[in-house]
Amino acid sequence: MEGKVVLVTGASRGIGAATAERLAGMGADVVINYRDKKARAEKVAEIVRSRGQQALLAQADLTDAAAQRQMVDDVAKKFGRLDVLILNASGGMERDVPADYAMRLNRDAQTRMVDLATRIMPPGSRIVFVTSHQAHFFHSRSTIPEYESVAASKRAGEDALREREQELARRGISLVVVSGDVIEGTITATLLDRARPGLLETRRREAGHLPTVDEFADAVASAAARPEPPAEPVYVGQTA
Ligand SMILES: NC(=O)c1ccc[n+]([C@@H]2O[C@H](COP(=O)([O-])OP(=O)(O)OC[C@H]3O[C@@H](n4cnc5c(N)ncnc54)[C@H](OP(=O)(O)O)[C@@H]3O)[C@@H](O)[C@H]2O)c1
Repeated sequence: MEGKVVLVTGASRGIGAATAERLAGMGADVVINYRDKKARAEKVAEIVRSRGQQALLAQADLTDAAAQRQMVDDVAKKFGRLDVLILNASGGMERDVPADYAMRLNRDAQTRMVDLATRIMPPGSRIVFVTSHQAHFFHSRSTIPEYESVAASKRAGEDALREREQELARRGISLVVVSGDVIEGTITATLLDRARPGLLETRRREAGHLPTVDEFADAVASAAARPEPPAEPVYVGQTA
């Protein structure tokens, strides 16, 4: 990743923050997108800089098209291009969000991010879409009602990106999907377990092991860095 410029959406915490830190360790300059948590995003930027790389903090609510456009303009101004876009930010389980929020963030904002970012992505660039098994397998498996709108919207986002895959390929831009089981120690895991007490323990037992944030971030960073994009989605943790 030496000399590459990477934008990680939702990099202020969790998997996005861990991925940003890893990519900096691999030699990339990192654009750290966040929505609200500036102090946390600044800590991630400090870690990126401590690894000898440049960091750009990019506050943008991805459901706001003007904010997304401004973020891409800022990346172009500072770095002149973008080599890797990691679509990590996700949401929909927050309290008090409108009914269509999950679809606006997990589908509409993802495709718009791709349309805007690819204007500054040269041939050889890559997009990594981060998703969960519950979303990736949404069409063939049931999920708990509390996560259903998130799973449906993330799957719709993945499908919408796949529809663009050939056009992206013509421009020399590859698309990789990385899907994970429930990840230990994340807020989403806590929210799911709160909604369905015992869900985490049951899943741990079924799967034998739930991936950690570090394991998932390693897989996302390596999907970004591999010279050849994997043809199939990268699965982290048990899929069955
Ligand atoms: N957690 C799991 O068990 C799990 C399992 C499999 C896959 N995944 C996938 O991994 C990815 C990251 O999950 P996570 O658990 O690390 O998420 P998380 O802890 O909920 O973090 C979400 C990140 O996205 C940002 N964000 C939220 N809404 C945003 C918006 N409207 N605009 C811009 N940024 C926004 C947040 O920024 P602020 O902090 O500034 O609000 C935060 O940095 C997601 O795609 C998720 O589906 C997670």
